[in-house]
Amino acid sequence: MRSALIADEVRVPIDRDADIVTARQKGRELATQCGLLSTDLAVVATAISELARNIVRYAARGEIIVRRVDENGKRGVEVVAVDEGPGIPDVTLAMQDGYSTSGGLGLGLPGTRRLMDEFEIISDFGKGTTVTVRRWKR
Ligand SMILES: Nc1ncnc2c1ncn2[C@@H]1O[C@H](COP(=O)(O)OP(=O)(O)O)[C@@H](O)[C@H]1O
Ligand SMILES: [Mg+2]
Repeated sequence: MRSALIADEVRVPIDRDADIVTARQKGRELATQCGLLSTDLAVVATAISELARNIVRYAARGEIIVRRVDENGKRGVEVVAVDEGPGIPDVTLAMQDGYSTSGGLGLGLPGTRRLMDEFEIISDFGKGTTVTVRRWKR
């Protein structure tokens, strides 16, 4: 039986700026338990920050889920950012460097894609957005 002290998943509801910090901290803790090294911890923390910030800014509320993954012997961390906000009308456009509807840098999504090993975004205009990213242990 696995120790109850080691979590397989953390879920952080996001609806204000302070929750971004909480999600980053809790995600980093779980990634540490999964054995990720410092560069990868920084990468995961950055991804969580960007995705959680987008939830607050564009969807008002949602959730960040961070979980341990073990797939065909590859181990790492998965971050899922889910909201039921307005969705993204043109995902291809939103993934381009510098595209922002809020006067931001427009690097959050494309930067996160570059940093992480796997990246998937599903957005239904009018229904919400789910971004799933993974970083494998080196
Ligand atoms: N969760 C979301 N819900 C709705 N729209 C989003 C969401 N995340 C991102 N977007 C849209 O995608 C654009 C690009 O996001 P991002 O790359 O993080 O840049 P920025 O946040 O600086 O604008 C945003 O300007 C916004 O229009
Ligand atoms: Mg952003």
